[in-house]
This record gives sequence, structure tokens and C-alpha cells, in this order.
Amino acid sequence: MGAYAKVYEGWQNDPEAFWMAAAAKLDWIKQPSRAFHEDLGVYGHWFADGSLNTCWNCVDRHVESGRADQAAIIYDSPITGKQLTLTYAQLKEDVVALAAVLRQRGVEKGDRVIIYMPMVPEAAVAMLACARLGAIHSVVFGGFAPAELATRIDDCSPKCIISASCGIEPGRVIAYKPLLDEAIELCANKPTSTVILQREQQTCDLLEGRDFDYASETKKARDEGVVVDCVEVAATDPLYILYTSGTTGQPKGVVRDNGGHLVALYWTMKNFYGVDPGEVFWAASDVGWVVGHSYIVYGPLAHGNTTILFEGKPVGTPDAGTFWRLIAEHKVAALFTAPTAFRAIKKEDPGGELVANYDLSNFRTLFLAGERADPDTIHWAERMLKVPVLDHWWQTETGWTIAGNPVGIELMPVKYGSPTVAMPGYDVQVLSDEGEQMPHGELGNVVVKLPLPPGAFPSLWNAETRFKETYLTEFPGYYKTADAGIMDEDGYLFIMARTDDIINVAGHRLSTGGMEEVIAEHADVAECAVIGIADQLKGQLPAGFIILNKGVERPVEAIQSEIVAMVREKIGPVAAFKIVVPVARLPKTRSGKILRSTMQKIVDGEDVKAPATIDDPAILDEIKASWQERAG
Ligand code: COA
Ligand code: AMP
Repeated sequence: MGAYAKVYEGWQNDPEAFWMAAAAKLDWIKQPSRAFHEDLGVYGHWFADGSLNTCWNCVDRHVESGRADQAAIIYDSPITGKQLTLTYAQLKEDVVALAAVLRQRGVEKGDRVIIYMPMVPEAAVAMLACARLGAIHSVVFGGFAPAELATRIDDCSPKCIISASCGIEPGRVIAYKPLLDEAIELCANKPTSTVILQREQQTCDLLEGRDFDYASETKKARDEGVVVDCVEVAATDPLYILYTSGTTGQPKGVVRDNGGHLVALYWTMKNFYGVDPGEVFWAASDVGWVVGHSYIVYGPLAHGNTTILFEGKPVGTPDAGTFWRLIAEHKVAALFTAPTAFRAIKKEDPGGELVANYDLSNFRTLFLAGERADPDTIHWAERMLKVPVLDHWWQTETGWTIAGNPVGIELMPVKYGSPTVAMPGYDVQVLSDEGEQMPHGELGNVVVKLPLPPGAFPSLWNAETRFKETYLTEFPGYYKTADAGIMDEDGYLFIMARTDDIINVAGHRLSTGGMEEVIAEHADVAECAVIGIADQLKGQLPAGFIILNKGVERPVEAIQSEIVAMVREKIGPVAAFKIVVPVARLPKTRSGKILRSTMQKIVDGEDVKAPATIDDPAILDEIKASWQERAG
């Protein structure tokens, strides 16, 4: 039996002992007496009688145990030409100062704080400052528009918002403050204050009495020597809410608790990612996504690693060698990014000429996640970097990997197209729509037998019914991942597609339903359907098919541009919505359901058999013709 099989079996035989041993790695204020409490919460709670503080475990305890002068965060920003290293001691000072400012603004344990920030170290400091106070943060990705931000503000009613004057994208500075002001204007639950980081690329005006300047307020707290101790929270108290796309425009607030979260992330750093404390770990993502929460901030810091906060793009800042420069310069041991980043690099530098310019001798492993890692991209990365390239599959909901290749335990043979095997904590099964086990090798619904492991979400913020209905009802006793996949005879999983209307654009998860809601608001649109079409770089791109109202005589090009602008304005540039195709009819079932997956297959050039329930099969040819006409 291999090492992985032993560890997995050990967990299966005694999950209680497995997770209590993992929990022993943390500093608890009150030790939990046992791991799982099945009588609490929707499906149980982890470490419910324990208490701790996440910021203590990520910062203070390293300062006290000899890592004070070790780099905690390396900020590398090719887009601004800046670099900054914060040691654990400096990080603690920054976090305490901001926690003091937040407390002065009335933020206490259990209060919500929204963080709407670009990739600057202050974003991580803000998360940790909230954790220190026992406040619940909700980071909103900077590429979302004011309306999306407003929805999140209304849902979690934050007392305070921490933001910055601007973000920087290649070739343009994005003023964040007007977006923030507009969002506050739009929402009903207005925060009482904001703390704004002024960036030199573009500063902003502050509203007297509501907006507070990050730099001067934190300086004041420092000068006054304000002490803010870590606040004791129950293991089950929420650490953060992270909104993710659901099947409607209303995003779902995934709740993460303090105790189980840290236990699970700590376990993954060595066992899954194979890094030791003190080594440099780089997740090239954004703090606005779950990968950023887990592996830019909490995982590496809890484990005493150095984490990298990268403000740039894989290409164009300044070139396709940026990733290699960072790996060499900061002696990165493991990199975690989305396949789309590698596709972007491969497109610019297919021969990998730039790799040769850098010393990558410290680099051991590349991890990919966020979307399916296509074998071409993996092969290319393996050839260029000469290290294992490991796909792993997880979701915002779980917070850490469900299936992967646990290199810290054992490097399993890679099967291209598969994220490898289930991690301890996850009993992954593939079921038919009727809930029967699918034979090995056959496609079905990928589910996880309850309970979910520590770190996975216990519920949705203020939406327990939605939590049960979305995830737990269709397959009683299981968590529905909404991914379709196959498990082979060796237990390797293959994740093939979503079973809902979520699409994955450049590793970003987006709801086509949400886009349809925006498009339907256009006065000239009678009906619409948004689907995800295959794209070589971003994996998928959204495409909107619209039926115009009878009698509309305005030029269709004008309507198309208006719709593109509406989606950008209401959802944000991150939706990458640029394709609008007018059609006469949409294919539907006899009960009136739009056949989106059939449309997708047509557009992607796959073989399509008209579904038996289709109302009028002729519409499929019309869709094909409209698409081909668009493609020229
Ligand atoms: N604030 C404001 N706008 C933002 C933004 C932010 N934080 N992040 C992205 N945008 C904008 C971009 O400028 C772009 O706008 P445009 O339509 O005017 O060009 C749009 O949103 C789409 O952004 P993006 O998806 O990043 O596309 P891109 O073409 O700029 O870059 C990649 C393509 C592949 C290089 C990029 O997506 C990437 O690096 N992906 C890595 C994957 C990743 O981080 N995944 C997260 C989960 S692991
Ligand atoms: P997110 O919640 O944004 O992390 O997106 C989660 C979804 O992205 C999953 O449900 C999958 O559909 C997809 N996904 C993430 N990682 C992988 C992977 N390694 N292989 C295939 N799909 C993935």
C-alpha cells in the first residue's frame, strides 16, 4: 500500500483521531475536546468547543517562536515597479495598527467588514486585522462593478469598508473610489465608515466624517502605541464570507469558520503542497478569490511560510518571463496558479525562450486549479520547468482541495486530464441523476458524502434554506458539487463540466443566469440565453444570444454594444462579456426550458443530437447558421 493510500485509509478508519492530530498543530485558547459535533449546525460542526484566534496563529505566534525577522509577505508589483518585504514582526505591527483603526470605527467581534482592494499588501493586512478583532471580512474582487459590490454590502451589512483609491490594470488606472461611492449610493445597508488607502498612481477625495485615510489613521494608532490583542473566538465563529456565483444574479455568501479552516489549511501546506515552514509559497491569484484567501494569506502564514503577493499579469508586465523572474528572485518552492495563466505565457513564448534566463533551481512543484487543466498545457509546463505539474480540483465552497496529487505524502502517477485522487476528509462518489452509484469510467454527478471536512463551508450567510436546497437536497446525505465527472478503477477523478449554469472564464467563476438578468433589462430584448463557449486562452467565454422585440428598427450593432456595456457596468470587466448574437428563436424543450447545453455544443462544433424533448429541432440549424454568420 502506498503512503497516500495509508493516510487516506487512516482517515477513513478514524476521522476523529485524524483531525484531532491535525488540530494539535495550532495554538488554541481553549483546546477542543473532540473534532466533530454531529448534533450542531446543518450537517455538524468542527471543533465546536474549541476557541482560538486566526490572526494569532498566522502572525503573532511566529513572531514569538523565532520567525520575527523572516519574510512573511513579499509584495512584487511589476505593474507599478514596486517591491516590498514585510517580516512577520512588521506584519504584526501593521495588522495591530489597522485593527486599532477599525476598533476606533466601532468594529467589534462578529461585525462585518468589506475589503475592496487591489493586490497590495494592505489587502492581506486588512484581512488579518479583521481576524484579530474577531470581525468577519468579506473581500470583493476589484474587477466587480458597483452593482455587484452593492449586492454584497446589502447582504452582509458591513460596519466598515476598507478600500483603495485605485487599482492598476495594464495600460490603465482604475479609480476605485467612484465605484465604491456608487455602490454605497446603491445599497440600502450603508456602512458607517470607510478606510481608504491612497495610492500614488491616483488619489481620491475623502468624504468628511465617513472616509478615513488609511496611512494617517494607522500612523496615529502606531504613534499612540495602541495595543490590540487577539480576540478569542469560537472555532465555529465565522472568519469570513466570500461571495461566489450562484445560478441567479444573487451571489451566495460562502461562510468560513475559524477553527476547521485553519486546521485544514495547515494540514495541506506540508501534506498536500509539500512545503516546509520558512519556504516561499506563491499563489498567483487575487485575494478576491478563494485561492487568494486560502493560499496567499491564511495557509502559508499559518504554516510559517513566506507568501508572495503579486500585482501583475502572467504576460505583459512586462513580458512572459515575469513568473520565472519571481520564482528565481524570491526562491519560490511551489507555485499555484490557474491553467489560463500558463496558456497566456505559452501563447507569447511557445518555445519557452524566457525560461532559460532564470535560475529555477529552488522550484519544486507547479500546482494548477480553478478550471480543468488541459493536457497540452500540463505537457508544455512540464517540458519548460522540468518539475511535476499537478492539477487539483476544489471550489470556493470547500476552501481547499477535494481531489489532488498530495506530493507532500506521495507523488502519485499523473493521469493527464485528472486532478488525481480524493483527499482525506472527502469521500467522493459519482452518482446518477437518480442517486445510484455510477460504475467506474461512467459520467455522473460528483458528490461528497457528508460531513464535509474541516475548512469546508458550514452554511451560506443568512441563507440556510438556500444552502440546503442548493447543495444538500438533490442527493440526500451528500454535498452536491455541481460538477459532472468520472472516477476510474484506480480512484482517479476526471472533472468534465458543471451541471448548473456556472461558467469558468480565465479561472473566474461566473453565472450565466446573472448575465441573462442584466441583458433582459435592455428595452429592445425580448428573450436571451447566455452560454459559455470554448476559448483557447480563457477556457470559456460568455456569449449572449438575443431575440429582439418585434418592431425594433434600431441598428443591431448599437444594441449589441449597449448590451456589452451593460454587462460590463452591472457585473464588471471580469465577466469578459463581448459576444452578442441576434437570433430569431431559441431552442427550447416542450416545457419551455432553453436548451443551453445543446446550444453550447453547436457553437463549439461538437456533434449534436437533438434532445428528445426539443420543441422544434429546426431551431438548432438556425442557431448554427447565426453563429457561423457571426464568425464570418
Ligand atoms: N480590477 C479591475 N478590472 C480588472 C481586475 C481588477 N482587479 N482584474 C481584471 N480586470 C479586468 C481586466 O482589465 C480586463 O478588462 P478588459 O476587458 O478591459 O481588458 C477584464 O477584467 C478581464 O480580465 P482578465 O480575465 O484578467 O483578462 P485579461 O485579458 O486581462 O488577462 C489572463 C488574461 C489569462 C492573463 C488573466 O486572466 C490571468 O492572469 N489569469 C490568471 C488566473 C487567475 O488569477 N485565476 C484566479 C483563480 S486561481
Ligand atoms: P471556484 O469556486 O471559483 O474555485 O470554482 C470552482 C469550480 O471551478 C469547480 O466547481 C469546477 O467546475 C472548476 N474547477 C476548479 N478546479 C478545477 C480543476 N482542477 N479541474 C476541473 N475543474 C475545476
